[in-house]
Amino acid sequence: MDILIANVAPLFAGRIQKSLAASGFESALITVSAGEQSKTLEQAGAVCEKMLGAGLDRQSFVIGLGGGVIGDLSGFVAAIFQRGVSHVQIPTTLLAMVDSSIGGKTGVNTNAGKNLIGAVHQPVFVIDDVEVLKTLPPRELSQGFAEIIKHAIIADAEMFNELTQVAGPKLDCFKQSSSLEEFVPLIKRNIEMKAGIVAKDELDRTGDRALLNFGHTVGHGIERAINYQGISHGEAVSLGMIAACDVSMKKAGLLEKQRDAIVDLLQKFELPTKLPGNFPRQKIFDALKFDKKFEHGEIRFVVTPKIGSAKLSRDVTMDDIRAAVEKL
Ligand SMILES: NC(=O)c1ccc[n+]([C@@H]2O[C@H](COP(=O)([O-])OP(=O)(O)OC[C@H]3O[C@@H](n4cnc5c(N)ncnc54)[C@H](O)[C@@H]3O)[C@@H](O)[C@H]2O)c1
Ligand SMILES: [Zn+2]
Repeated sequence: MDILIANVAPLFAGRIQKSLAASGFESALITVSAGEQSKTLEQAGAVCEKMLGAGLDRQSFVIGLGGGVIGDLSGFVAAIFQRGVSHVQIPTTLLAMVDSSIGGKTGVNTNAGKNLIGAVHQPVFVIDDVEVLKTLPPRELSQGFAEIIKHAIIADAEMFNELTQVAGPKLDCFKQSSSLEEFVPLIKRNIEMKAGIVAKDELDRTGDRALLNFGHTVGHGIERAINYQGISHGEAVSLGMIAACDVSMKKAGLLEKQRDAIVDLLQKFELPTKLPGNFPRQKIFDALKFDKKFEHGEIRFVVTPKIGSAKLSRDVTMDDIRAAVEKL
């Protein structure tokens, strides 16, 4: 039994280890430093070594307790340790609850880009408890909403409209953790939506699952460009979605007023909608070359013709992306 934790350890690890002990499980606690920079092959290797050192074997299982970084790293470790052991996810961020803990995509970043080494390794189960969100900093909550807004744009126009009502006083309550329960239906709806898309296309072969990459081509480029520091995943996706909207206006007939509504909603959730003036934009394009969304040099770019729908386009050119990034 192993647990991987970032700065989440002091908050919840003790309680979990106690509960495991009460059920007769022996556990070893392994922590990694918080942040995207821990999602590396070196870190995965170091964790595997610690697991071997602690005497874990093929019957052991890994619990990933933390945000998406820990979920992706611990899942990857579970996929390769002794050629694969069971993985349990206990997401502690909103983003991890509504997105990364579902679907079994695990992996690490490399110098060339995000998630370029990994495995599909489904968790045996996921434990969600909104109470853990009480300690989450407001900026991290906003990040989670970036993926929720993405779900609304690609598949649920009604949820998009509902979200416009959530922003404002209701969101402030959420941030002060006074009304977490009220958000349970929204969180469940997002979990069901993601699970539904994954169930149709678990191995990312038919194009259904690829729609979840809306905003991620440019988003991942932004993260890579600044070496995963200063702009979080959800914030990069927020910016990437705006670039994707501009491409969608050109290539998929998205109306300008719908693009503006998306920008407005992202702003309401305090997500960035403009790149800092001095951002190294060229590095975004350098990173695009390594993106997994490229196939034989062709871009599989997700566009939205209308809020609530998305499709893969093969007519998007590097110039279209460049023009959209220049506007960011
Ligand atoms: N596998 C997938 O399908 C998938 C989907 C979406 C995103 N992702 C990945 O998820 C990652 C982003 O995840 P994230 O947004 O959860 O970031 P994160 O894991 O870095 O967590 C954000 C920060 O919050 C802290 N934290 C976590 N839970 C806390 C709590 N309850 N209280 C206080 N602090 C807490 C963490 O230590 C960290 O500093 C990215 O690496 C992204 O690529 C993966
Ligand atoms: Zn994402």
